[in-house]
Amino acid sequence: MIIMACVLLILLGGAVILPADLLPDKTFSLLPPVNFTMKEAGLAQVLLRWEPNPDQEQMNVKLGYHVKINAPQEDEFETRSTESKHVSILHQGFSASVRTIPWHNHTLRASSWVSAELKAPPGSPGTSIVNLTCTTNTVATNCTHLQPYQVSLHCTWLVGKDAPEDTQYFLYYRYGSQTEECQEYSQDTLKRKNACWFPRAFIHSKGRDWLAVRVNGSSKHTAIKPFDQLFALHAIGNDEPKPWTEWFLVVLMTTVCIVFILSLVCRRCHLWTKLFPPVPAPKSNIKDFVVTVNYEKSGSGETEIEVISYVEEPELEVLEDFVF
Ligand SMILES: *[C@@H]1O[C@H](CO)[C@@H](O)[C@H](O)[C@H]1NC(C)=O
Ligand SMILES: *[C@@H]1O[C@H](CO)[C@@H](O)[C@H](O)[C@H]1NC(C)=O
Ligand SMILES: *[C@@H]1O[C@H](CO)[C@@H](O)[C@H](O)[C@H]1NC(C)=O
Ligand SMILES: *[C@@H]1O[C@H](CO)[C@@H](O)[C@H](O)[C@H]1NC(C)=O
Ligand SMILES: *[C@@H]1O[C@H](CO)[C@@H](O)[C@H](O)[C@H]1NC(C)=O
Repeated sequence: MIIMACVLLILLGGAVILPADLLPDKTFSLLPPVNFTMKEAGLAQVLLRWEPNPDQEQMNVKLGYHVKINAPQEDEFETRSTESKHVSILHQGFSASVRTIPWHNHTLRASSWVSAELKAPPGSPGTSIVNLTCTTNTVATNCTHLQPYQVSLHCTWLVGKDAPEDTQYFLYYRYGSQTEECQEYSQDTLKRKNACWFPRAFIHSKGRDWLAVRVNGSSKHTAIKPFDQLFALHAIGNDEPKPWTEWFLVVLMTTVCIVFILSLVCRRCHLWTKLFPPVPAPKSNIKDFVVTVNYEKSGSGETEIEVISYVEEPELEVLEDFVF
C-alpha cells in the first residue's frame, strides 16, 4: 500500500516538476520489436515471442522489452529476453503488447507498441460448464515407496444451461509440465459428465506452480465452449515470515517517499533556496526516483486464485485437504 501510494505520488510529483521543456532535447526513439507472435504452449499457458528490430541502429546501449498483457487480466513486466511464458486462462482469448525500451539509458525513448492476440476458442454461449470446484487430498504412503505421499484431485461442475443433451465434457489438468486427461468421470442423469477423479495426480501440494484445469466438450449439435480455471495450491496454514529484503524495500521506499515529500514542500515554500543557497540538481534526482520505481513494478496478478481451506491432520492418514 505504502509503496503504491509512493509510486503514485512520485509519478505525479515527477509530472508536475518535469514540464516537457525541461526534458532532455536529445531523445532518440527506439524501433519496436518485429515478428511478435503468441501461441498456446500447454494448457492455460502462452508463449510470447518477438525479435529485435533489424533496422535498429546499433548503439552502445543495452535494450530491453516492456511487455503488457491486456486481456484477460492486465499485467506488465520488463525483460531483456525475447520470449516469455505466461500462465493465463485462455477461454476468453488473450492479448498482449510489447515495446523496446532502453535498459538504463534515460536519453532514449521507448518504441511504439506492437500487439498480438489469441482469439477466444469457438463455442455457443451457455454451453460451457459452470461452478467448477476442485479439491486435492494428500495421503501418506509407506516410506519404502519413492514418493512418501500421494495427491489425489477431485473436481465437480455443473453442466452449462444451454448445453445440448448429447454434450460430453472432458477434463484436463496441467501442473508444471505434466498434463493429464481425466479417466474416471461421474455422470448426471442424462449421462453427461459432471465430476472427475484422479486418484494419483502429478501434483506437488506444497509447490508454487499453478494448477490449471480445463473442461472442454463436444456435441453433434453445436460447438461447446471450453472453460479454464487456475488454482493456487500454496497453503493458507504456510504463512512464512516476509523475507528481510521485502521489509528493507518497504523501509527504503518509505524513506525515499518522506525525503521526496519534504523536498517537494521545501521547493514549494522556497525553503530550499533559503536552507541551501547553491541549488543542487534535484531534477536528475527525481528522474532517478522515477526509474527506480519503474523497476520496482513486478509482473503480478494471476487469474482466479481460489484457495479456500487447508486442513492438516498429522494423526490421521490424510495429511491435508485443499478445497477450491
Ligand atoms: C520475421 O519473419 C519473417 C517471415 O517469417 C522472416 O523472414 C524474418 O527474417 C523475421 N525477422 C526477424 C528479425 O527475425
Ligand atoms: C545513452 O545513449 C545515447 C545514444 O546512444 C548516448 O549518446 C549516451 O551517451 C547514453 N547515455 C548513457 C548514460 O549511457
Ligand atoms: C453457481 O455459481 C453461481 C455464481 O457463482 C451461483 O450464483 C450459483 O448459486 C451456483 N450454483 C450452484 C448450484 O452452486
Ligand atoms: C508399500 O509400498 C510398496 C510399493 O508400492 C507396496 O508394494 C507395499 O505393499 C506397501 N506396503 C504397505 C504396508 O502399504
Ligand atoms: C480439450 O482440450 C485439450 C487440452 O487442451 C485438447 O487436447 C483437446 O483436443 C480438447 N478437446 C476438444 C473436444 O476441444
